[in-house]
Amino acid sequence: MSDSITIEDIIRFLEAEKEVYGPFSTDHGEDVLSEKDTQSGPETEEPSQEIPAQSVPVETKQPGISKPEVEAKPEPKEPTLEEKLAACTNLNQLKKLCAQADELKTDLEGTNLVFGTGNRDADLMLIGEAPGEQEDKQGEPFVGAAGQLLNKILKAIGFEREDVYIANILKHRPPGNRNPSQEEQTRSLPYLNRQIDLINPKVILCLGKVSGNTLLNRDEKLKNLRGTFYKYRGADLTVTYHPAALLRHPQWKRPTWEDVQKVKKRYDELGGTP
Ligand code: URA
Ligand code: URA
Repeated sequence: MSDSITIEDIIRFLEAEKEVYGPFSTDHGEDVLSEKDTQSGPETEEPSQEIPAQSVPVETKQPGISKPEVEAKPEPKEPTLEEKLAACTNLNQLKKLCAQADELKTDLEGTNLVFGTGNRDADLMLIGEAPGEQEDKQGEPFVGAAGQLLNKILKAIGFEREDVYIANILKHRPPGNRNPSQEEQTRSLPYLNRQIDLINPKVILCLGKVSGNTLLNRDEKLKNLRGTFYKYRGADLTVTYHPAALLRHPQWKRPTWEDVQKVKKRYDELGGTP
């Protein structure tokens, strides 16, 4: 047979290979092209002659291992507080959101959420300042001494406590019952506003200076806030003395009596029930 392979044939073959694949090593080390790398085919159609084979890491040429070129999906955006609040369409949902909200806490550790209590369809909503020790323990606003007096004030104008809805500016107790800071009020207000909107009362009675000034965005003495109705989130809002202040200053009971008579009158005029 005359078709035996000569040295010249081998050299010609190697020259041709070199032209197509570039210089290569005969060293059988790790970076020698694998059989797969030298195959032509759809997977290896990169312009391999421009890349010296020795310098190409084997992995980059294997289709299964090469980096996926799938576009990274944008992270789902965390909803804003506004969106989270708007998504609460009832008080149970809002209470859950409040229970998870660290921004409602004060710097007193381990306090309980004091969300609010009473008739969810109330046409009269009362808003105090912040929970005290008893309220924190029981998770309900106005259950201590001030709360007992508040119940009597409500009775005097024909309401049971269960007829109205009661909440506070803050939903957690501040240390030592200090006044809520401006910053704490600001963090809490969006939640309270959503609560007001869900209850949709006809009349709001703010108990004390802190409550009145927070909702009216003012900085006034109590005597300058009381005696007037303001519009707040669709309701008629007025301000009177805090029941805890009445315990210390009985002389303020008379003006409080006058204020709550006006509240009852406005409530009846607006068709409040019960
Ligand atoms: N004082 C408040 O302002 N709120 C309460 O819940 C109790 C006392
Ligand atoms: N000052 C207050 O802070 N609250 C009142 O209710 C009365 C006076």
